[in-house]
Amino acid sequence: MCGIIGYCGPRPAAALLAEGLKRLEHKGYDSAGLATADGGTLTVVKRKGKIAGLLEILPPDLGGSYGIAHTRWATHGEVSDINAHPHVNCAGDIAVVHNGIIENFTALKEKLQSEGHVFRSETDTEVIPHLISSFYEGDLEGAVKKTLPLLTGTYGLVCVHAREPDRLVGARNGSPMLLGVGDDEMFIASDLTAIVTHTKQVVYLEDGEVVVATPRGYHTTDMRNRVVDKKVEFVGWELEAIEKEGFSHFMEKEIFEQPQSILRAMQGRIDHENSTARLGGLNMTNRELLDVERVKIIAAGTSYHAGLLASYLMEMVARVPCSAELASELRYRNPIVERDALYFAVSQSGETVDTLYAMRELQRKGARVLGICNAVGSTIPRESDGGVYIHSGPEIAIASTKAFTSQMTVFYLFTLLVARMRNMSIEGGKEFIENLGRLPDLVQTVFGQKEHIRRLAKKYCRYKDFLFLGRGLNYPVALEGALKLKEVSYVHAEGYSAAELKHGPIALINDETPCVFLVPDDALRGKVVSNMKEVKARSGRVIAVCVEGDQEVMDVADDVIPIPKVGELMYPFMMVVPLQLFAYHTALELGRDVDQPRNLTKSVTVE
Ligand code: F6R
Repeated sequence: MCGIIGYCGPRPAAALLAEGLKRLEHKGYDSAGLATADGGTLTVVKRKGKIAGLLEILPPDLGGSYGIAHTRWATHGEVSDINAHPHVNCAGDIAVVHNGIIENFTALKEKLQSEGHVFRSETDTEVIPHLISSFYEGDLEGAVKKTLPLLTGTYGLVCVHAREPDRLVGARNGSPMLLGVGDDEMFIASDLTAIVTHTKQVVYLEDGEVVVATPRGYHTTDMRNRVVDKKVEFVGWELEAIEKEGFSHFMEKEIFEQPQSILRAMQGRIDHENSTARLGGLNMTNRELLDVERVKIIAAGTSYHAGLLASYLMEMVARVPCSAELASELRYRNPIVERDALYFAVSQSGETVDTLYAMRELQRKGARVLGICNAVGSTIPRESDGGVYIHSGPEIAIASTKAFTSQMTVFYLFTLLVARMRNMSIEGGKEFIENLGRLPDLVQTVFGQKEHIRRLAKKYCRYKDFLFLGRGLNYPVALEGALKLKEVSYVHAEGYSAAELKHGPIALINDETPCVFLVPDDALRGKVVSNMKEVKARSGRVIAVCVEGDQEVMDVADDVIPIPKVGELMYPFMMVVPLQLFAYHTALELGRDVDQPRNLTKSVTVE
């Protein structure tokens, strides 16, 4: 979504803001801008397109020790220089950057216009600086606090006034904001990545809170001006986590990081003595876990695919009924909350509005909702009733890769925990743990196929439509493979259960529709091979991800990507990595912007 950074302190603001914008780039945006104040005058520079374009027009001598900056992902008004943030009031002395949507902006705008305010942009945001100026009597904080109650919708915002030096005023309602506390300098940002190179001391704002920051300190209040004491938290990230470290793209780096990120998701969470998992963050006693009669998972996109996979796994292994649902759908169908159900909200960013609002709706109805998230301190983990961090480290590429396998890993651990309380023996638990423990090395071996997959991507990149087909545990992986290809290469791809092929999609088969089949040597292998043969019989092209040495599959398929033989439950990990690499290399072949694919954003904080 849109990104925000504000700075006040002894260093030149423009350079810091420009650097912050670059760090926010990965979130996806279509225009960017910044404003700094110097000697009582605000200078606003903004431009549609890439940040590099903005930096080209940035005056080299742009002064000022405080300012704000923004990457915009258009919601109201086309992508244009004018609609880019910051927005200012008529006098041009108040500047605002805003994430979220002001739903009642039309009424506010009409009223302000009738009072003589002149608007320049088509955005909802522009009402904010005008409103602030209408209340301004020499105190920006006071004027902001009079403005906020008039806004309906969501916001994370920061504003500055030309004649209130070194003062940032930020506020949050439904869109993440945090304060970075440095040495004699302060940052307000929507995203840790924007500031973590400067400070690791962070204060997370809650909805309804306002923060005023100056280089000497900060104070936080609620809208009614009551002081809110906030804890300064320490962010454990290393700088390398947000650098490419020799890889061409963050997506490539994050794919190759998976042996380590899977390991991190497991670390400290395996109880070898009792052959089970240790997940203290769930905040549940064994007795409470035993009382769980069903598990329900809500999420969006890739996180939903991890949840869907978990639903198969839980039922297969722990014999607990489990289902996954798109959070956006659950929220609006007045869900029935069952007393004995345990809910999981899965989200890499921890900020996805569809998932967050669905979680709140479930909680309102009395459900216990646990979070499985990556971004530490984000809203879902803070509002959930417990949960597990996946500890992937920052995922910078827009297309999610390492978070997916880490979410899976956490669900495997949860399944182990629940299964060991029910039908799984100590021996069964031991074997499950051994299989999990081998995963990082096994995933590493798949990287040996990198060049081969690159060649396949080159061979197949001219095709316009792909089908991804898998069954059982590998059906959600097929969905994920199709999503990855669509997202980063813009090639149309659909995921299906291979069994569904004959119920419709087979009509698409000809020599222009390559089918990527996932063929583990599990109980359904024979059926998937038959589906492959059905495709071949109709002149279709088949790429099969299969176990090395599977001669029958090699004989049928046009191309194969061999993976090592592993325990049946572990195939999803082995299957998804080649699909991620295939999507990555196809995107490269087609000259796509791999880390920032068009129209996409890293955390979707609007509905
Ligand atoms: C896919 C992707 C999106 C996200 C989805 C949910 O590569 O990045 O589909 O998975 O927007 O995001 P989170 O997991 O942050 O809730």
